Amino acid sequence: MSDNRVIIFDTTLRDGEQSPGASMTKAEKLRIAKALEKMRVDVIEAGFAIASPGDFEAVKAIADTIQDSTICSLSRALDADIDRAGEALKNANSGRIHTFIATSPIHMKYKLQMEPDRVVEQAVYAVKRARNLIDDVEFSLEDASRSELDFMCRIIEQVIDAGARTINIPDTVGYAVPEEFGHTIRQLIERIPNADKAIFSVHCHNDLGLAVANSLAAVSNGARQVECTINGLGERAGNASLEEVVMAIRTRHDRLGVETGIDTTHIVPTSRLVSGVTGFPVQPNKAIVGANAFAHESGIHQDGVLKHRETYEIMTAQDVGWHTNKMVLGKHSGRAAFRSRLEELGTTFETDAELNTMFARFKELADKKHEIFDEDLQALVSDTKAAGFNERYRLSSLKVTSQTGETPVAEVVVMVEGEEMRATSAGSGPVDAAYKAIESIVHTEASLELYSVNAITSGTDSQGEVTVRLEKGGRIVNGLGADTDIVIASAKAYLHAANLLLSDTTKAHPQV
Ligand code: KIV
Ligand code: ZN
Repeated sequence: MSDNRVIIFDTTLRDGEQSPGASMTKAEKLRIAKALEKMRVDVIEAGFAIASPGDFEAVKAIADTIQDSTICSLSRALDADIDRAGEALKNANSGRIHTFIATSPIHMKYKLQMEPDRVVEQAVYAVKRARNLIDDVEFSLEDASRSELDFMCRIIEQVIDAGARTINIPDTVGYAVPEEFGHTIRQLIERIPNADKAIFSVHCHNDLGLAVANSLAAVSNGARQVECTINGLGERAGNASLEEVVMAIRTRHDRLGVETGIDTTHIVPTSRLVSGVTGFPVQPNKAIVGANAFAHESGIHQDGVLKHRETYEIMTAQDVGWHTNKMVLGKHSGRAAFRSRLEELGTTFETDAELNTMFARFKELADKKHEIFDEDLQALVSDTKAAGFNERYRLSSLKVTSQTGETPVAEVVVMVEGEEMRATSAGSGPVDAAYKAIESIVHTEASLELYSVNAITSGTDSQGEVTVRLEKGGRIVNGLGADTDIVIASAKAYLHAANLLLSDTTKAHPQV
């Protein structure tokens, strides 16, 4: 790999999944992994294999399937973690174990309760154990941005000798500022005698909104791997956003002098996929992937762009995959065309029954909406999978009466494990009435943390995609629903969240 090539390491499926409520099923993770592979992401961190049996299975399925990207599993610097990661990656075409330990005084003293010398020993031991299982080992110094430089130099030199090929410097708590962070990276590379035997990587959190800026400062100072996530998903305020890092590197090649191997035309479809699967909407003014990112509202801007695009645009919408928005299927499309388009979008069908259910829902949608875009298909898949997931509750029918000057009333029928339950309720609006009626059947007693509606495509016949976040006893779930009728989409999303609250998603958190 040339000296100016930056490795893009995507951790949407691991750190991204640590966002409260963003948990994904194995099938959803596989869909996202396929989209990342198509985008030519170099390394996909598929999960934390020891966290739960479900996480192990997801990492394994991705490692078994993906051919072109390296598949990575996170592990603490502990025997059981490392071995489990190795087992999940056994069949990977190219696999990596990513092991880490905290190195800041505050983490060593209070979290690990270990002396610095013991931390060095444990790190070296972990890297050697991982190297016995796999050639490609990455080592991270958790909370590096609050660690002492001399101590980092000492531990890094020893883990490189032990066989680590990538050294990752995380800004775990999002504390760094760009000049300082870039300087740290430069110092490490200059001072560590065997630094040339490893690639230096960064992993920045966005607590101060500086994750992308810090990552780019690190690249300017010698880092050649950036860890990032689609839509900037991740723990707390998230991680550096992949689309921003990649497009900054591409657009400002004059200044940064480096490149990535990413096929940027897959950025927007992948962003939509991740947003649909996780239920985290993308804010309209989000750089690159927000609905307004390329919309020129003011007359002066529009005039300028029409005369000469570069007056106001530094990249094109097409470069990042906007306007691939073509009509792909319609009412008369057959099962084969439907299956093949969905497979191109990363959805595979495990059984004929699954294909039949999805196809029947596609036909229903095509009756209501004549032009079916890729975005509609993505929403259809998320909605069908959401509905099929451990389904205790299913919407059977919903009738809402809403009239000027009158209180809206909803009559709902929900199937509860096959048994029909009915309820009627009034509310301050149609959605409120529907939610009250549903709640009187399902009794989640959860608090509603977020309700959001997003039009999937443009036009009044667009499907509305609804996200509902429920919180109960500290547990957060995101329910999703899509339909051309937004009240029905809302009801589906509420029932999806209610179903999720019933599922067991206990898993270990890597950093706790
Ligand atoms: O933020 C962090 O420090 C991490 C490490 C496990 C890489 O996610
Ligand atoms: Zn992180």
